[in-house]
Amino acid sequence: MTDLNTLEADVLAQVAAASDLQALDAVRVAAVGKTGSISGLLKTLGAMSPEERKTQGAAINALRDKVAEAISAKKAALEAAELDARLASETLDLSLPAPYRRKGSVHPTMQTMDEIVAVFAEMGFAVAEGPDIEDDFHNFTALNFPEKHPAREMHDTFFFNTKESGERMLLRTHTSPVQVRTMVSQQPPIRIIAPGRTYRVDNDATHTPVFHQVEGLVIDRGIHMGHLKWTLETFLARFFETDAVTTQFRPHHFPFTEPSAEMDVQCDRSGGEIKIGQGTSWLEILGCGMVHPNVLRACGIDPDEYQGFAFGMGVDRLGMLKYGMPDLRDMWSSDVRWLSHYGFSAFAAPNPASGLS
Ligand code: PHE
Repeated sequence: MTDLNTLEADVLAQVAAASDLQALDAVRVAAVGKTGSISGLLKTLGAMSPEERKTQGAAINALRDKVAEAISAKKAALEAAELDARLASETLDLSLPAPYRRKGSVHPTMQTMDEIVAVFAEMGFAVAEGPDIEDDFHNFTALNFPEKHPAREMHDTFFFNTKESGERMLLRTHTSPVQVRTMVSQQPPIRIIAPGRTYRVDNDATHTPVFHQVEGLVIDRGIHMGHLKWTLETFLARFFETDAVTTQFRPHHFPFTEPSAEMDVQCDRSGGEIKIGQGTSWLEILGCGMVHPNVLRACGIDPDEYQGFAFGMGVDRLGMLKYGMPDLRDMWSSDVRWLSHYGFSAFAAPNPASGLS
């Protein structure tokens, strides 16, 4: 029969010697684990006489409790030591002077937005606004989207949960609902732009789920495609501060304009940068067209009396082109180095008189 005192001294010495939690656990398993030395002793109790079992049982159980106590005390000590070591190694000295100072700056998207607004303001456009959380009527129905149009489906649109009334709000997928809000609340002639945030279920190098658009709307008598083309070309020349911008109009389809087109800007994407006015790539920057008679009617305007054109441009895309950024996702990286590389002074409000950027 193993001498309990020897066993106790032996196990307690092993506990004391365990240098980390892993070693301590090995000691625990060897002593009080299923097949451990102390557990083995407990199994011998069955073969003893009742008298013997009484004394031996009490002694073995006392030993087991003592060992368990020693293990848990050692465990607490090891854990505390481990935490101390971690705290010591991960220390940050907040009293150290900062190695350099970061200055706040205007995000390129906001700078681009301000520049676009400045150019259109000079051309006589007023700024209109609408909510980011829209209803189906303003985002789709009044814009002549057929009931089953795919853009209404989940893969494009962020929908909210359906209300008790059955209505389902959404994050506007474009700034075009501001056209509707403007036409129902103002009489022609109308000449507005609507800058703002827009949302779609989309994410790659040229699409982010949140992006920015500037909508344009002109309603008056005798408006035609020529006015649209002149307005956009004049805008681009001023925005890029050069006449060397090559564009192409491609026929397209939007439910709310007829005819419709998309406009691309020629650019070079072969290097790490994106450059305009050269190269073999085209970057789509806006959709446009003549306002559909159904949209005018939905907003209470007589299409036989008034016509109009509309456009919606991607602000982030225009910023990429103007400032040579190859990947749209950098705009959301919150990297101060990127920001200070492209960032703009908060005090240099862009205006066409003193230069945009
Ligand atoms: N709303 C369209 C889009 O987001 C752009 C557009 C606006 C097209 C106005 C035509 C007229 O893609």
